[in-house]
Amino acid sequence: MADDRKAVDALTESEARDELAFLAAEIARHDVLYHQGDKPEISDADYDALKRRNDEIEARFPALIREDSPSQRVGAAPAATFSPVTHARPMLSLDNTFSDSDVADFVSSVYRFLGRLPDSSIAFTAEPKIDGLSMSIRYEKGRLVSGATRGDGTTGENVTANILTIGEIPNRLPAGVPDVVEVRGEVYMAKSDFLALNAQMEAEGKQTYVNPRNTAAGSLRQLDPKVTASRKLRFFAYAWGEISDMPATTQMGMVETFARWGFPVNPLMKRLSSTEEILAHYHEIGLLRPDLDYDIDGVVYKVDELALQERLGFRSRSPRWATAHKFPAEQAFTTVEQIDIQVGRTGALTPVARLTPITVGGVVVTNATLHNEDYIKGIGNTGERIRPDDHDIRIGDTVIVQRAGDVIPQVLDVVLDKRPADAKPYAFPKKCPVCGSHAVRERNEKTGRLDSVTRCTGGFVCSAQAKEHLKHFVSRNAYDIEGLGAKQIDFFFEAEDPALQIRTAPDIFTLKKRQEASALAKLENIEGFGKVSVRKLFESIDNRRNIALNRFIFALGIRHVGETTAKLLARAYGSYAVFETAMQQAASFSGDAWEELNAIEGIGEIMARAIVEFFKEPRNIEVISRLLEEVTPQAMEQVVASGSPVAGKTVVFTGALEKFTRDEAKARAESLGAKVSGSVSKKTDILVAGPGAGSKLDKARELGITTLDEDEWLALIGG
Ligand code: IVH
Repeated sequence: MADDRKAVDALTESEARDELAFLAAEIARHDVLYHQGDKPEISDADYDALKRRNDEIEARFPALIREDSPSQRVGAAPAATFSPVTHARPMLSLDNTFSDSDVADFVSSVYRFLGRLPDSSIAFTAEPKIDGLSMSIRYEKGRLVSGATRGDGTTGENVTANILTIGEIPNRLPAGVPDVVEVRGEVYMAKSDFLALNAQMEAEGKQTYVNPRNTAAGSLRQLDPKVTASRKLRFFAYAWGEISDMPATTQMGMVETFARWGFPVNPLMKRLSSTEEILAHYHEIGLLRPDLDYDIDGVVYKVDELALQERLGFRSRSPRWATAHKFPAEQAFTTVEQIDIQVGRTGALTPVARLTPITVGGVVVTNATLHNEDYIKGIGNTGERIRPDDHDIRIGDTVIVQRAGDVIPQVLDVVLDKRPADAKPYAFPKKCPVCGSHAVRERNEKTGRLDSVTRCTGGFVCSAQAKEHLKHFVSRNAYDIEGLGAKQIDFFFEAEDPALQIRTAPDIFTLKKRQEASALAKLENIEGFGKVSVRKLFESIDNRRNIALNRFIFALGIRHVGETTAKLLARAYGSYAVFETAMQQAASFSGDAWEELNAIEGIGEIMARAIVEFFKEPRNIEVISRLLEEVTPQAMEQVVASGSPVAGKTVVFTGALEKFTRDEAKARAESLGAKVSGSVSKKTDILVAGPGAGSKLDKARELGITTLDEDEWLALIGG
């Protein structure tokens, strides 16, 4: 084992550091194999040799001893962190519906998209929405090879060692299953197991857990699989990722197959075919809800035929063929003790009610958002009255608080009878409580109405905005720098010493250099840090110097640009340089670059404006150019369906389409790797024109663009 390695005496410090990192990971991996599966890869003697080598290197370089070194613990081997896993197929989320009429809309949208009449009945499945954590479990040749959390949908965390401890999840599948099988479903903790665990924690004088879902999440994210094994986790299979050979043609058939393969599936799943039947099943599950031994927060409806699911396809984040019908939110009464103002990343002043703590649906609530000045007054976003009798919310009021799923709790209404006699209307601040700049409500150019959001005009001067910006930059779906969370940003932002300060994103990446150059103000001497954690922090910062373009764009914190938009932009422009140049060319809100931005499916005018405005601000360009000296956004891999004749092409549909609905045409083209645009420009490759096509067809002819009728298009893409 260790024989072919360099003698310990001959190692340089940096070689030693690398090897200790390798040994920590390698020994941890063997521990997992040994303890969890019955499949160790190496002999005991070889395992001991690895450990000995680790000890010898540590004896020579004691300063390099890692926190996660095998010498620092006894027995089991928690991995240092979870490694990332890229899902073979993205793990999507579901759209939510709340009312019976939303459900009817969902059903008719399915019929409409497919161009089917409402009487040709399409079957749906309905099953409980389990309140747990979604998990993708991959089997190769019938053996469990990996378990991954959902993560951001594209990349999750490798929690294989922990998944192997869940008794309800088979480690092996029966003979004859396809070579590659990814079963997806929900890991959860039963209510009864949760109560028993809490009773035990209480008996031991330890802190109890909040709810089964959080406990299940915490248990799964244990670095030590032994801890996971000690918690009873369970599983329901309801979906799949990659499968090399599909075993069924319907949703129901797939779930029945999973049951045959040994997975638990939910017994309340039913196949139904009308909105009435679906709603009846929803109400039935609602009645059973209190008696189920697991938490559910709604009912999921899915189109049963997989061929129809395929035609319906996906929106950016969720399938068109499914929706989650949520149960109504839970409510409780409490009092408003104080109203505080929080200043967000884009300067928005958000009032927050500090409440007398109250349990709503099993969770303690102490804060609730009051949204904006108008909401406190009782006025909605379009000027409508949102509370009976026009009443406002005041400090001292008794209020009804509502919590729905993961949404921030809201103050719904006020109990006027209980209003204290001296309660006064809340005076919304005219100045930013952090930097003192004027706070204004902008006027919406289109409607002429005042925006509901009050914003601090301080911009970069406002330390709250700058700080929130940094917190966003390092957040989970942006840079996701381990060891650099909101708390640490507060610390580095406030630090007085220049060798410790982080005020803008590039400062994160120059921190190590500044630390090395400084004799005083060493981070490792500051309480809460220490040598090992400082080294780890610098490592995780360095690990992010190469980052996916979509994350980079999301991290910039452009107003209105969330994760989905960042992905659209990354995909459309491919590289950061191309993106920035195009945005500068669009500065006058006209011309080709501006039109192309607006033509990106999913980007509306407000977003487009905000993006261009962002790049018109010299300070943004300056910060980004400093950032680019430190980091390299990776050009986006173009997802091109191989062999498709329209992959990478920009297609425009126009006129009255007769062979397919416009939505279906678009979805189909996109699934074949084409970009679908709403307007014709020099970049258009193909125009598909139905009867009655007008100006777009003329423009395409003028520009010499290939134009096809519907039949020619179908022939091109193979029917
Ligand atoms: S289907 C492509 N079915 O809900 C659709 N999801 O809000 C895949 N969930 O991330 C999801 N119970 O974690 C589906 N019976 C069920 C579910 C379910 C719970 C969760 C799942 C998903 C989230 C979406």
